[in-house]
Amino acid sequence: MKIVTTIAEAQSRQRSKPRVLVPTMGALHKAHLELIRVARERAGPNGEVAVSIFVNPLQFVPGSDYEQYPRPEKADEEFCRNAGVDLLFRPAARELYFEDRSAYVEEASLSSVLEGKSRPGHFRGVCTVVAKLFNILAPEVATFGEKDFQQLAIVRRMVRDLNFKIDIIAVPTVREDDGLACSSRNRYLNLEERKQAAVLHKALLAAASANKRSASDVVDLARKVISEVQLADIDYVELVDAETLQPVEMVRPNSLLALAVLFGKTRLIDNIRLP
Ligand code: PAJ
Repeated sequence: MKIVTTIAEAQSRQRSKPRVLVPTMGALHKAHLELIRVARERAGPNGEVAVSIFVNPLQFVPGSDYEQYPRPEKADEEFCRNAGVDLLFRPAARELYFEDRSAYVEEASLSSVLEGKSRPGHFRGVCTVVAKLFNILAPEVATFGEKDFQQLAIVRRMVRDLNFKIDIIAVPTVREDDGLACSSRNRYLNLEERKQAAVLHKALLAAASANKRSASDVVDLARKVISEVQLADIDYVELVDAETLQPVEMVRPNSLLALAVLFGKTRLIDNIRLP
């Protein structure tokens, strides 16, 4: 596995093989492994799998967990090696951002709802760094997880609207045995919070299978299930259209139930498609 830390080196490498990129912020876990597996499958024997690890300061809202975000460098490197990654791109923050930077990439519609409402500036940070990674590493394909459904939709929109010649592959949400969606932030949870966090997936399953028609019934049911555990503090539970991310009043094809819930200081998100 080749490890590259500078933009110059990443861009100077001669390349004949098609590249599939898996952008991450590190603290790699089971879900990242699945993204790498899908990338490998897509790359085939003649392609290469590149993983980027970069804790992107631009996407953390001020006062959130940028400083505390886990950075287990050695373990991540081993993880990538064992997963059969060909190229690891791991730049420092000063390598990627000039102090006087003044150009950003902003998606202006899908970013204003759900996570965008609770975390102003977050998706501008995501779009900017993903666009930079696309320019630096020039992949033909990139993988993104459905756990971050809104991020996936926004990246697709950016790729479409700005004509990046890159295929975006969506990877279904990977879960722990009790249903909790894998996330680097799960390691912030204490034992009791971790136990109670399993309620999120239960609530989504209950709401999705209840055969309710109106959005408020679906949302109320999910809220009720979540409120049965003590430590959950709901930020939002919303039924939206999976394409536009706009709220819908009735369940219809392509509806998505999305939620964000705090356990202590840890904010977790999850979602489910309604049948
Ligand atoms: P990070 O949280 O490290 O996630 C990297 C990729 O893994 C994202 O595409 C995310 O959706 C996916 N992922 C994380 N948990 C998942 C799960 N349980 N199931 C399926 N996929 C999962 O998302 C980011 O980093 C950043 O915003 C990034 C895109 C790298 C830009 O900085």
